[in-house]
Amino acid sequence: MKVICTEKTQILASRVAEKLGAPLGEVKRSRFPDGELYIRALDLDGETVIVSSLPDADSIVELLLLIDACEGSDVTLVIPYMGYARQDKRFNSGEPISIRAIAKALSTGVNRIITVNIHEPEVLKYFGVRSENISIAPAVGEYLADSGIQNPLILAPDDGAWIFAKGVASANSWDCDHLDKTRISGEEVRIEPKHIGVEGRNVVIVDDIISTGGTLATAAMLLRSQGAVSVSAACVHGVFSGGGYTRLISAGISDISSSDTIERGCSRIFAAPSIAEALRR
Ligand code: R5P
Repeated sequence: MKVICTEKTQILASRVAEKLGAPLGEVKRSRFPDGELYIRALDLDGETVIVSSLPDADSIVELLLLIDACEGSDVTLVIPYMGYARQDKRFNSGEPISIRAIAKALSTGVNRIITVNIHEPEVLKYFGVRSENISIAPAVGEYLADSGIQNPLILAPDDGAWIFAKGVASANSWDCDHLDKTRISGEEVRIEPKHIGVEGRNVVIVDDIISTGGTLATAAMLLRSQGAVSVSAACVHGVFSGGGYTRLISAGISDISSSDTIERGCSRIFAAPSIAEALRR
């Protein structure tokens, strides 16, 4: 078995290969004069694991070419960060179901697909092959425990992220809650934890994705005003679009960590052990 990857997932792919005890295959890349991508996967094996996050359109094209290059091999595709996953419904006529379009295109030529904390696991139905979504919430919890944080309150920014937050909190039996929005009047909304007060607590807000950081920045400012001693943040996919990381720092978030599904300077949480375990199953 060989592990190969697209350009932007080299570090995570190397860690997955190490965990599996499998060699990393070499992929040559260059550009045609018109800017189109050329790739060549060298020394392919009968069984191939492709590890490729999809943080941008170039990565999607690169992955499609790589899958085609693996023709004749038994391919398992690991998509640690699945881009285009948040447009998973048609909200207005004339819109695509973006995840469906991308999932269909990626399903040709692969036998199995593994995603990591995909935004809405129900969308796996759009893959035409056997697929599975894994959660690295326990790895996030492990990272926080190793960081030495004392008795934190793990907080999901909304009801939707509560299951993820419970997964982070459970191994250490930490308190866990989610933020709740109550409309006071036409102009005023109150945002506070549903069940547990934050006064005097070290709060860690956890989410699957941090994109613009808007959700967490607003939450952090409110929590500080409600008496939280410190507010930090941890997520699986650190997209940090449009200055998202600096927005969080400016909002008083003391520490931000993400996993290596998207390779960032703050990628201190490792997805490879969970991915390797899923691959071995
Ligand atoms: C939404 O349901 C997701 O779980 C995240 O909360 C969202 O994508 C974060 O977006 P942003 O960082 O732009 O507020």
